[in-house]
Amino acid sequence: MNEPRPDHILQVGLGFWASKTLLSAVEMELFTELAKHPENLETLQGRLGLHPRSARDFFDALVALKFLERRDGQYYNTPSTDLFLDKRKPSYIGGLLEMANSRLYPFWSQLTTALRTGLPQNEIKNGTPNPFTAIYAEPARLREFLKAMTGISRGANLAIARGFPWSKYRTAVDVGTAQGDLITQVALANPHIEGTGFDLPEVGPIFEEHVEANRLSGRVKFSPGSFVDQPLPKADVVMMGHILHDWNLETKRMLVRKAYEALPDGGAYIVYESIIDDDRSTNAFGLLMSLNMLIETADGFDYTGADCAGWMTEAGFRETRVEHLIGPDSMVIGIK
Ligand SMILES: C[S@@+](CC[C@H](N)C(=O)[O-])C[C@H]1O[C@@H](n2cnc3c(N)ncnc32)[C@H](O)[C@@H]1O
Repeated sequence: MNEPRPDHILQVGLGFWASKTLLSAVEMELFTELAKHPENLETLQGRLGLHPRSARDFFDALVALKFLERRDGQYYNTPSTDLFLDKRKPSYIGGLLEMANSRLYPFWSQLTTALRTGLPQNEIKNGTPNPFTAIYAEPARLREFLKAMTGISRGANLAIARGFPWSKYRTAVDVGTAQGDLITQVALANPHIEGTGFDLPEVGPIFEEHVEANRLSGRVKFSPGSFVDQPLPKADVVMMGHILHDWNLETKRMLVRKAYEALPDGGAYIVYESIIDDDRSTNAFGLLMSLNMLIETADGFDYTGADCAGWMTEAGFRETRVEHLIGPDSMVIGIK
């Protein structure tokens, strides 16, 4: 029999130490700096403007956490931090961590209040009912948020772009597309696909920048609009990543119905995010994401694959299946 041990409790309980150390490193662009060339303690301390009391412990903690390497007194990025946390590379996913640092970290300190009241603890607290209105009111915050979405979605986007049977379809629309990384990856991996990104008008310029940077402007277009007030653009495949969890059950069902209406017979609807396992006992990230929705939205929540398949069947989809993508992410596919 396994004896009870305290280490897991302490590791999770003090997990914010490691988390904030990484978030501060991203905030100060440490990995972008080291991607230029390795540096020794004194130079790196000077570049980042660190106090001599903190610098050595900070860098060595990042070595122990496996985000940096140290050889012969020089600090280097690891292959992963070099690829994913160097701001100058298109593979940068630090947008998510920038947002975690500036928004989620302080908001999560109010988790107990959220648990007791059921009320969000972000910008909405000041009276703005829709979280997107609050985020989108400030251009820098909007850009940060949209890039953060690319950060959290890149792995799943690549898995969908490579793993879904795209040869059966010609057009695709990504609903609530943000920077447009999903439709971008789909179009890059499948040169026959014509893509549309649908989102609120404010998102257009940031979407178009991303599409242009990937040289897809001829094949991937932006369609401005609101999925609350309008029908969705028609396409052979309708995709929604991290959309349904933002909303209450009634709006979730309405969005599933709109996806059904936008598809031809045989068309496919892909819903993906950190779909919770049906037993609600193993996908901790999915369950914590749902708590994040408690903090971030008025009444949003995450859900299981069986929940989503049920809403699809209710809307008329003749076939549904759940497929794992990467890490905590899965997709639920409905065929009309
Ligand atoms: C959580 S983000 C998901 C972004 C992206 N699909 C992903 O998975 O990375 C939600 C997106 O829905 C968009 N959105 C929110 N309300 C909308 C509305 N009424 N109509 C269209 N898009 C909306 C937001 O602008 C944002 O891009």
